[in-house]
Amino acid sequence: MQEELNNLKNQAIAAIMEAKSVAELEQIRIDYLGRNGKITTEIKKIKKLKPDEKKNVGRLINEAMSTLAKTLAEQKLSFSQSAKHWFDATIPGEKPALGHLHLVTQAATEVTAIFEKIGFTRVRYPEVEWDWYAFEALNMPQGHPARDEWETFFINLPEDKKYGKVVLTPHTSSGQIREMERVKARPPIRMINIAKCYRRQSDATHVPMFHQFEGLVVDKGINITNLKGTLDYFGKKLYGSKSVSRIRPFNFKFTEPSFEVDFRCVHCDGKGCKFCKSGWHEVGGAGMVHPNVLKAGGIDPGVYSGFAFGWGLERVYLLKPGLNINDIRTVYRTNLAYLEQL
Ligand code: PHE
Repeated sequence: MQEELNNLKNQAIAAIMEAKSVAELEQIRIDYLGRNGKITTEIKKIKKLKPDEKKNVGRLINEAMSTLAKTLAEQKLSFSQSAKHWFDATIPGEKPALGHLHLVTQAATEVTAIFEKIGFTRVRYPEVEWDWYAFEALNMPQGHPARDEWETFFINLPEDKKYGKVVLTPHTSSGQIREMERVKARPPIRMINIAKCYRRQSDATHVPMFHQFEGLVVDKGINITNLKGTLDYFGKKLYGSKSVSRIRPFNFKFTEPSFEVDFRCVHCDGKGCKFCKSGWHEVGGAGMVHPNVLKAGGIDPGVYSGFAFGWGLERVYLLKPGLNINDIRTVYRTNLAYLEQL
């Protein structure tokens, strides 16, 4: 009986040492110490023994059981510890997902850099603006039909006697007056104002919130050639050396004369293709700053003159060769699989 017990114990210990997993250890525990385990059944035999043997065998069984329990526990612990400390330096690391700047931010950065090279400085003016800056000071008095072009969102706030109602800036031209005020009647001004604009509009080429960038140059002797040279420079920098700009007569109340600006299509060199249709892409307005606007900004139109242009940032940027996006709304979707490609 005693020898049998010793054998069982040694067998169990050998099995524990050879076990390769926690599951195997558990099976060994059941085989020896479980309800019908090999050692457990030995206990049942005790009552058949003689009194003096009972004591000895009882002690032996207890000892075997606690030794096995302890060995099982130690082995289990060593498994979990080696799993924790196991470190394979050859496994390639997990790279954290890296994002990138949104297309509109890329556009603003690139446009800013192009203008900075010729002495412009980027400025920022309020998105929530007074009617006065957005219209009145830009030579568009209350009730003037020209205002209809800018389908404006008005904010429900008390009106100011001088500045009028509060609006969501419908164009970056409001920044022209703010910039003139900033220099306190003392140009030069070489401003590039990139900001969010809001209009009540929504279709494939319009979204209610978009970005414009506005250039304003005011100094002595500024003329249309300076404007045209700036447009050509910008086109060549953004679209490539083959870019050509064109100005067509137009009408804005805050510039005189006024123009619409086109860039020749870089896909077909102006021949006309499915992308441009006419050979040209219209990007937005421009013109020589109206004397009334200079006056509203506190600048003497007898001494100074200037030019301004204001274009949709998304529109200008999406015309870049290689992008070929014609539905502006896609840029504002929160579809990461799409945005990651831009
Ligand atoms: N603010 C005009 C627009 O939103 C564009 C423009 C800016 C025109 C500056 C002329 C001069 O359409």
